Amino acid sequence: MGHYSAITGWGMNVPEKILTNADLERIVDTSDEWITSRTGIKERHVISPGESTSTLSIAAARQALERAGLEGKDLDLIIVATVSPDYRFPSTANLVQHALGAQCGAFDMQAACSGFLYAVSVAHQFIVNGTAKHALVIGVEVLSQVIDYKDRATCVLFGDGAGAVILSASDEPGGLLGFTIGSDGARPELLWIPTGGSKEPATEETIRERRNFVQMQGAEVFKFATRIMGTAMEEALANAGMTAADMDLFIPHQANLRIIEAASKRLNLPSEKVFVNIEKYGNTSAAAIPIALCEAIDQGRVYPGAHLGMVAFGGGLTWAAAVVKWTAPIRTLERLQESLPEQAVEPAQPVHVG
Ligand code: UT7
Repeated sequence: MGHYSAITGWGMNVPEKILTNADLERIVDTSDEWITSRTGIKERHVISPGESTSTLSIAAARQALERAGLEGKDLDLIIVATVSPDYRFPSTANLVQHALGAQCGAFDMQAACSGFLYAVSVAHQFIVNGTAKHALVIGVEVLSQVIDYKDRATCVLFGDGAGAVILSASDEPGGLLGFTIGSDGARPELLWIPTGGSKEPATEETIRERRNFVQMQGAEVFKFATRIMGTAMEEALANAGMTAADMDLFIPHQANLRIIEAASKRLNLPSEKVFVNIEKYGNTSAAAIPIALCEAIDQGRVYPGAHLGMVAFGGGLTWAAAVVKWTAPIRTLERLQESLPEQAVEPAQPVHVG
């Protein structure tokens, strides 16, 4: 076992509470017309008291485990990609590990909106070198808590949510076939939270100046995004020995519909091959791609043998892309729950980590 790493489980969770464009019209000087035409976003989900990055993560992870026919104790690795963890430390992955009853290493990593695909590329290494048999990778954000709801240039864009996948060792050719990760830290101020770190700790003044919230130079990020989405995707495809024409479904980071359209055009993809759900969630950063993957599966757009292309960009600046050949049977949770007795899963073989 173990020449390939395949996605065997998937799950998502978003808060129940919805913030519509009409709600935002009452908070800042904006309009549904502006937000829709400039971004494609109609609404986003935001947490309520009692919810946090870890609660969304745990709910998404439980779905992913159920679909994979696994329990927490079967996991050999947990990676949580987020820029909005419950705490500076301990990591959100620590909290998820405990809640799932897992007995494995767990850590957070952040590459902003590219974090999920970065984390997938890391988990892939553990799987293919035989160190882990099953890895849980979560992309999650609660950006509503770090967004300035007085800044119309950012507050209309972002939302909360979590998506999770299980990567498992497999002998069947497929799974993650190629990827690329990239970084250009020359201009961190293009998209950042300036204070609250070691360089500029939070003070009354920084809070008064609202520098503890996300700040973005949108037009600059836009230019970068329209270029990098296409080139990064092409690079990952080339690493897999493929071209854009070989993709059955393109699942891009959901930051702005205009960016998605520009990337799709560059890759010469017809709209049927492009997955978009930004209208419902806004930009959920590291959670956007795994949430989109879950919805694409629910809509019957992913099937065994399908080649999926995923690409993200974000703060850093960072970017990442991955090509996956889907191999898992498509399991709806309803069907699984109905047939649970027959689905009783053999305990996983113990895996020696380290
Ligand atoms: O995951 C990575 C995260 N970031 C991104 O992907 C962001 C990439 N950038 C973008 O998506 C776009 O640049 C934005 C959606 C952020 C902005 O769209 P834009 O077409 O680049 O607009 P702009 O920043 O050039 O602003 C155009 C106008 C400005 O007014 P003036 O100066 O022309 O009078 C803004 O003040 O739109 C104004 N504006 C708004 N108006 C109504 C900016 N935000 C809003 C708003 N409602 N929410």
